[in-house]
Amino acid sequence: MEQDLEQKIIQANIELHQKSAQYYDQIHPEIFNKNEQNLIENILSQAISQIKKDKINVLDLGAGTGNITLKLLDNEKVGSVVAVDLSKEMLDELEKKAGQNPKLKIANKPADIFLMDDDSKYDLIVISSVLHHLPDYFQTIATVLEKLDDGGVFIIFHEPTGEKSKLISFLEWLDSRIFVNLFLPQDIKKVAKSLDHTYSDYHVYHKFDLAGVKKFFEEEEDIEIIFFKKHNTFDLLPFRWLGKTIPAKNNFILAVRKK
Ligand SMILES: C[S@@+](CC[C@H](N)C(=O)[O-])C[C@H]1O[C@@H](n2cnc3c(N)ncnc32)[C@H](O)[C@@H]1O
Repeated sequence: MEQDLEQKIIQANIELHQKSAQYYDQIHPEIFNKNEQNLIENILSQAISQIKKDKINVLDLGAGTGNITLKLLDNEKVGSVVAVDLSKEMLDELEKKAGQNPKLKIANKPADIFLMDDDSKYDLIVISSVLHHLPDYFQTIATVLEKLDDGGVFIIFHEPTGEKSKLISFLEWLDSRIFVNLFLPQDIKKVAKSLDHTYSDYHVYHKFDLAGVKKFFEEEEDIEIIFFKKHNTFDLLPFRWLGKTIPAKNNFILAVRKK
């Protein structure tokens, strides 16, 4: 990817999350609904129970307002969580929720720069709804695997499958229009409508390569895929129900373990 485009994607992410940080949880019910949250909790606790150590150290890349980090901080087996994000405003929201927690370390940096500077190894690395925001997600995944300790787990939550059937695209459009126009308070609606995702969510608009990501893991000798699920996520409950009946799926979760 050209350096200009990389910089454009990074800058777009800084600006988008600066504008929306305060409202992030409210404008993302496709992540913060009860079923999705339960699913994340279950997968995290299953993964943690598979790591054969008394205390584990965790890296949450693109931690945002704390969707994953806060759950990890509550887990007794978790000794430390490093929450990395390029958006100061998103991390401010996370810090407000976490309060003073000795287990939590914050790094306000782009993921790739953090990974280059950091020489720690982690037992669990999590990326939730972030890969599609990164300039070169294959490069980031390769570096993440180097930072994973033996027996460690890497989980990718909530990324686009790239399966864009006409029906899914239409339902996503309708779901979002109804949610933003009828369910958001006026001030938040204004912010939500002003957000431009063209470059911040670059890989949503340039077909996320799920098959390539799976193949990449399958070709790594010391990596085994331990969990894979595709499912439909929508803002509104009726769309989530409908999503279960549609063969094409818009999101995936994937977990791998280093042997
Ligand atoms: C959709 S939010 C996901 C936040 C959180 N992980 C969650 O599950 O709700 C994407 C997050 O990735 C961050 N982000 C985007 N590009 C990034 C990059 N290059 N390096 C680090 N963080 C980045 C954004 O600032 C934002 O907080």
